[in-house]
Amino acid sequence: MRIDIITVLPELLKSPFEASILKRAIEKGLVEVHLHNLRDYTEDNYKQVDDYQFGGGAGMVLMIEPIDKCITALKKERTYDEVIYLTPDGETLNQKTANSLSLRKNLIILCGHYKGVDQRVRDTLVTREISIGDYVLSGGELGAAVLCDSIIRLLPGVLNDETSALTDTFQDNLLAPPVYTRPRDYKGLKVPEVLLGGNFPEIEKWREEEALKRTQELRPDLLEK
Ligand code: ADE
Repeated sequence: MRIDIITVLPELLKSPFEASILKRAIEKGLVEVHLHNLRDYTEDNYKQVDDYQFGGGAGMVLMIEPIDKCITALKKERTYDEVIYLTPDGETLNQKTANSLSLRKNLIILCGHYKGVDQRVRDTLVTREISIGDYVLSGGELGAAVLCDSIIRLLPGVLNDETSALTDTFQDNLLAPPVYTRPRDYKGLKVPEVLLGGNFPEIEKWREEEALKRTQELRPDLLEK
């Protein structure tokens, strides 16, 4: 998989890909992530990427020209499955979306900033609009990092234990069951006996029951879906 991220703040997007699972996925060649500074697609001395909005009002708007230039240059090199725009008014990201995007080959992610992008970008260049939740961030960069993480960890070979993404919370509309590690007894707080006995069918049954209990308690809405 290849992900091209278009941003006015590439420095904000460096560190998420330089640690832990995402770093390893890149090193293993399972994903390529390329950051593109929108200012590199301007032609004026000020490298201007934004301007005041027509009709007046506070806040700057990212201009269509550098975005179009960048996307056009990328599309000359390869075909893209989606051009995703990160915006608070997009469809809310969930596990199903992450699953389906993890099956794509080439993605462009466009990060908004200030008041957003010129509407003509959304109308003609973007194929999908995604929000990471009902709150407003200063820009799309942190949302892009969240989206990339949710996708990349699902790529085959990224997680050490291939099955571990399959047992994630949300993967089957259930929250994940509780997990424990050593010690068996910490100041009288004990690990449930069933997990210590090695009876795997019984452990599996316990986990299913706990997952259901936890979902009923914390996220009953998931069970209604
Ligand atoms: N940009 C600003 N807020 C955002 C959000 N909630 N999700 C995605 N991109 C955003």
